[in-house]
Amino acid sequence: MTFEFENISIGVDVEEIKRFERYSDDRNSPLLKRIYNEGELDYCFKTKFSAKRLAARYCAKEAVYKAMCSHGVKILNLKEIEIYHDSQGVPRIRLLNGMNNDFSIKVSLSHSQKTAMAQVIVYKVPEKKKSIFKKVNSDGTLKFLIL
Ligand SMILES: CC(C)(COP(=O)(O)OP(=O)(O)OC[C@H]1O[C@@H](n2cnc3c(N)ncnc32)[C@H](O)[C@@H]1OP(=O)(O)O)[C@@H](O)C(=O)NCCC(=O)NCCS
Repeated sequence: MTFEFENISIGVDVEEIKRFERYSDDRNSPLLKRIYNEGELDYCFKTKFSAKRLAARYCAKEAVYKAMCSHGVKILNLKEIEIYHDSQGVPRIRLLNGMNNDFSIKVSLSHSQKTAMAQVIVYKVPEKKKSIFKKVNSDGTLKFLIL
């Protein structure tokens, strides 16, 4: 099988956690609601570490934005990118813009006291594979079925 390197892109982003601290007690901030989905806000505000979690998820969204540009796709609204967690607590990403079956995305998040970062790999599923396989993403795992 040929490895289709051109179908892969990467993205990275780093943010100062301080920028997000002003929102750490304001789950209902209109600004947050323009950027984050409800599930993301639930996760971020579950503990007292909301600022670093908001920062890490913002990084993930920016990193996906950058990586998608390499595939010629411009994300218009960061809410189109959703970060959620599988049953093991591993962060996952899905696209809510109708392109979730066209791209497979891996993400890794990290934070220190001052900064948060995210790195992503985006794989564009080739057309020929899409006609043979269908991706099922409901539980966060990738599953391919022969149609
Ligand atoms: C995953 C782990 C290494 C994170 O390391 P850390 O230096 O404490 O924290 P970092 O800031 O670098 O990373 C934190 C992020 O890792 C992500 N994360 C948590 N568990 C993860 C996992 N199993 N795999 C990948 N990422 C994970 C989280 O999304 C977290 O960010 P969040 O708090 O904003 O959700 C640590 O939490 C750990 O050892 N957990 C035990 C889980 C484990 O061992 N699973 C089995 C792996 S095979």
